[in-house]
Amino acid sequence: MLTSVIDGKEIGSGTTYESRNPAVLDDVVARVELADATTLREACASARRAQRTWAQVPAPVRGQVVGAFGRLVAANKEALAGLVTREIGKPRAEALGEVQEIIDTCDFFLGEGRRLYGQTVPSEMPDKQLFTYRVPVGVAAIVTAGNFPVAVPSWYLAPALLCGNAVVWKPAEYASATARALAELAWRAGVPSGVLNLVHADGETTYAGLDAALADGLVDKVGFTGSTAVGRRIGELCGRHLQAPCLELGGKNPMVIAPDANLDLAVEAALFSGYGTAGQRCTSLGTVITHTDVHDEFVRRFDEAVRTAKVGDPTKDVVYGPLLDERFAQGFENVLSWLDDHHKVLGSTATGRITEAAPRDGFVGDPRTGLYYHPVLLDGVRTDDKVFTEETFGPLVGVTTYRTLDEAIELGNAPGYGLSSAIYTNDPATAFRFRQGIGAGMVSVNNSTSGAEAHLPFGGNGKSGNGSRQSGVWVLDQFTRWQSMNWDFSGSLQKAQMDVATIDTDENFRLPESLTG
Ligand code: UN1
Repeated sequence: MLTSVIDGKEIGSGTTYESRNPAVLDDVVARVELADATTLREACASARRAQRTWAQVPAPVRGQVVGAFGRLVAANKEALAGLVTREIGKPRAEALGEVQEIIDTCDFFLGEGRRLYGQTVPSEMPDKQLFTYRVPVGVAAIVTAGNFPVAVPSWYLAPALLCGNAVVWKPAEYASATARALAELAWRAGVPSGVLNLVHADGETTYAGLDAALADGLVDKVGFTGSTAVGRRIGELCGRHLQAPCLELGGKNPMVIAPDANLDLAVEAALFSGYGTAGQRCTSLGTVITHTDVHDEFVRRFDEAVRTAKVGDPTKDVVYGPLLDERFAQGFENVLSWLDDHHKVLGSTATGRITEAAPRDGFVGDPRTGLYYHPVLLDGVRTDDKVFTEETFGPLVGVTTYRTLDEAIELGNAPGYGLSSAIYTNDPATAFRFRQGIGAGMVSVNNSTSGAEAHLPFGGNGKSGNGSRQSGVWVLDQFTRWQSMNWDFSGSLQKAQMDVATIDTDENFRLPESLTG
């Protein structure tokens, strides 16, 4: 039985949850005791007590701890990736990539421990020095989704800990075992137990616990990765407590296919970003916006690629495995009800759950054991379709067409999300115009919408987030606040703006002809 772990102590409760392997539903990966709201609040209080001491550990030493965490993850890479595959059904190759993303993140923040730069700033007066310092925010409550059950949490944990914060981490219930494994590696690497607390709880309990902790001044930063709907609620809650959370929400990520695109490359990227992870990345491809001149050929090749893509057992070499868990399968069933008569449905032999009655050509393994769904490629998508405006979070990609680049950009921005985007073109002007016009936080040229590198700013605008950015140096602004200091050694009170030297300027001077000829 897994429990919450607060300051190194296992805290149980009465309510249990079973985390199941979505590829083999009979396989219970973990039984978990879910915490109540009071326990979550208590975890924040405990983190508050531990944070001060952690902040006094020099940043380069905290960096060493983060570096050790990365090395321990590397030493356990196979096992951790295996658990990711078993608990959420992510194919092995992708799971290994996900674990690598933790290692990359820790590598980056190991070095940042020796930087975490502040500035010296010139003063407007003599004998006075100005400085800036990054100071930890305090206690960070991190709430994460389970589609990236270890990489995305590491984007929060590594920088939050490096910057001197204490963390209360609430992972997705359906990724509880994986979360415990990651936390265990962090503790064993040297993260003090009080500084990283793990709380298993359901959504409503988490909201109530956060509300209580925020009201009592026990949380200084909320980080949330998940749906736009929940992100709105968290944003409102934090706003009431004058806090700006770090929100990483949904996406409706467009891929534009320009008339000069390399269609084979575009198809490969559309397959990976549309159907990899069964379309359950926030960066997954939503809609292909193809130029009318290449539409038919692109769709023909894309359909063939999707039809022949290997779907099935995630321990094997497949493009995608099952959906994350029952809740996501139900969500995708609902999305399938949005299909309409004007859509041309391509990509498979049927829609919906893959069964004996509705088989999928070339399925790898036994579809009856898990939550497997046919891929859907939907041509003829219109701008007022729900499949165009809403995130679908499953193996479904829509296709629509454009004639001018301005129109393509408008279509890309229309759903109001703004996380990732891509364009296939060999024309620099088209690529740069697209970058200027698209509202997404991330733009790929001749690459897929998913698969961001771990040290570039990651985040979105509009319905994809509140403008916060993760990764690289940019996330430091989430987990530190700037403190400025001025130090006057002149021996007198020099008043800013008032005691500043003035300069004499002859404002009426114009260059005489004797000089300009
Ligand atoms: C997510 O789905 O929340 O860029 C994160 C990518 C991955 C991260 C996705 N590196 O697709």
